[in-house]
Amino acid sequence: TKKHRVAIVGSGNWGTTIAKVVAENTREHPDEFEEEVQMWVFEEDVQLSKDSKHYKANSALASKPQKLTHLINELHENVKYLAGISLPTNLIANADLLDTVKGATILVFNLPHQFIGKTCDDIEGHVVPFARGISCIKGVEVTDDGCHLFSDRIGEKLGIYCGALSGANIANEVALEKFSETTIAYAPPAMDHHEPGESSAPSSNSKSGLKAIPAEYPELCHASMKKLFHRPYFHVRVTDDVAGVSLGGALKNIVALAAGFVDGLGWGDNAKAAIMRVGIMEEVKFGKMFFGSSSKPETFTEESCGVADLITSCSGGRNFRCAKMSVAERVDIHEIERRELNGQKLQGTSTAAEVNSFLKANGKEGEFPLFTAVHYILEGKARPEDLPELLEPTVHEK
Ligand code: NAD
Ligand code: 13P
Repeated sequence: TKKHRVAIVGSGNWGTTIAKVVAENTREHPDEFEEEVQMWVFEEDVQLSKDSKHYKANSALASKPQKLTHLINELHENVKYLAGISLPTNLIANADLLDTVKGATILVFNLPHQFIGKTCDDIEGHVVPFARGISCIKGVEVTDDGCHLFSDRIGEKLGIYCGALSGANIANEVALEKFSETTIAYAPPAMDHHEPGESSAPSSNSKSGLKAIPAEYPELCHASMKKLFHRPYFHVRVTDDVAGVSLGGALKNIVALAAGFVDGLGWGDNAKAAIMRVGIMEEVKFGKMFFGSSSKPETFTEESCGVADLITSCSGGRNFRCAKMSVAERVDIHEIERRELNGQKLQGTSTAAEVNSFLKANGKEGEFPLFTAVHYILEGKARPEDLPELLEPTVHEK
């Protein structure tokens, strides 16, 4: 029998953390997975920081900027996006996107959502036809024809099935192996199509055109997803609700910005709790209104990808922290992002704009007062101080 080969597309703060988790597990389950895991790195030159433990020990590497892939493979640490965390030696950084995905039967997509379109364009036609994907991306894509989940976008573009992983997962905490939970949604359609002359297992799903995983590979089911992602410090619950899992991760970034706004004003915990209450209600409502046939309200209220992610993101996430600094210092949030995040990317600012353009197109701004207020505050058309009034449902309907 053959083994699944896993590739990670993306190597930022969360991308590298998930790569660590996966590489630990492929090493632990060599019967099902090839031990080596390739991770695509958007290449850049990086100067080792004087604060790095490698700075003194590796004078050759420290003397001038080096390729990030070279540093990761030499030091087994992503010194730029996950500094101070040792990575498993079976995790290999690769600057060549097509080479990274070549032969991979499991593709884990983990990069800021603004880069996924171009990345998928580049790998289209180069992935194993029966590969399965997991999107760890928190965001949505809004086009003229609606609001789309990245798991669906990736799947449609590459002609593969793509599930989603999302949870209350501040990357640095997971990387430090502090206990966290996460939610994986994985529900590929049943295979029903037999090629002429084929005797046993079907080779594809006639409706979706998806290819079946050949019989010589281990089957990929909920239990295999758990094997690939579950760690003693990272507990996985698997569900079928891809829309609910994806939406929870995307929408909470808007809520976390609002939590940052009120904290930046010094308004205290009651104010933040009010934002979180309205936030979870709007998440559930958004799911019901626009993904009613595919998402379940319980995913938002009972799983890590819903309420738990909202709580952790409103406590210590980057969107929360940058929004707070932006209001406290009265500095534009994009400037704070550049100043504070060392190349990491906020997802909430663009998600707020995308969700707003979708709500506006559907005449529903007034039914989502928090999502709408965050967008107008970011645009400079409302003030954080106005939030209490803006959260009164009638305001946007006037
Ligand atoms: P990040 O914020 O660390 O972003 C930096 C990454 O973007 C780097 O790998 C950089 O090389 C890459 N990049 C920059 N320009 C690029 C380009 N033009 N093309 C492709 N890549 C480019 O990224 P992250 O934290 O790994 O986030 C990935 C996803 O995971 C996001 O959707 C985020 O919401 C989600 N997420 C993040 C966390 C977290 O705590 N960081 C936790 C859970 C989920
Ligand atoms: P931030 O992108 O705001 O840091 O949120 C991280 C996250 O998604 C925690 O689950």
